[in-house]
Amino acid sequence: MRIIKVKDYQGMSKKVAIIMASQINMKSDCVLGLATGDTPLGMYNELVYMYKEGLIDFKDVITFNLDEYYGIPKDNSQSYKYYMNKNFFNHINIDLENTHIPNGMTDDIEEECRRYDNLIKKMGNIDIQVLGIGRNGHIGFNEPDIQFESCTHLVELDEGTVKANSRFFDNIEDVPKKAISMGIKNIMHAKKIILMASGEEKADAVKKAVEGSISPEVPASVLQLHPDAYLILDEAAASKLSK
Ligand code: GLP
Repeated sequence: MRIIKVKDYQGMSKKVAIIMASQINMKSDCVLGLATGDTPLGMYNELVYMYKEGLIDFKDVITFNLDEYYGIPKDNSQSYKYYMNKNFFNHINIDLENTHIPNGMTDDIEEECRRYDNLIKKMGNIDIQVLGIGRNGHIGFNEPDIQFESCTHLVELDEGTVKANSRFFDNIEDVPKKAISMGIKNIMHAKKIILMASGEEKADAVKKAVEGSISPEVPASVLQLHPDAYLILDEAAASKLSK
């Protein structure tokens, strides 16, 4: 696990966008693993800018998102599908057929999870997986005490995660309590992993993930076992690291 420190949110967003752009330029039909939340928004803006400048072409790029809320229709403005279209896909020349997000409205959860796992495998696994981190150290929606061998599955969200995500909803009661998320196994099969973290509220989770023991209690700590994982942190997120 390598740590790259940058000054602030903008520096982090640019750095990750440059890495993603290099990947796309080296392999035009690469498979990207994408995340939602506030953290990657700046990176998506940078990638849109690079696309508009003619520096990258998304024509053959394939994407898999980490997760989707369970029970929220695709066209609902709170769905991750909506988020991805609004913040990224609608602004680039990606073929929407090549963008994959778990179907949160499925009536056969097991079958949907199997379909998602098989599709990732069929595409040759993920070349670069981008991750944010939850305050409790979750990645995707893999909450503490997750089994490291998990593949795509239905998750019950922790109370703290529901609370953190309530900032995007009018009422906390409207925040979904369940989601379909890639598992730790899917994430660990990615060839390269980039975890981004910005802000002081992520500093404890980052410290535990980097310096704590590898444990399902802090899902992000599993990245210590990945052969090509990078943490791109701004000064505030890195502020509690001892080295
Ligand atoms: C959600 C998402 C994660 C994301 C996390 C942190 O739980 N499922 O993929 O990393 O939130 O979000 P933020 O970047 O807004 O802090």
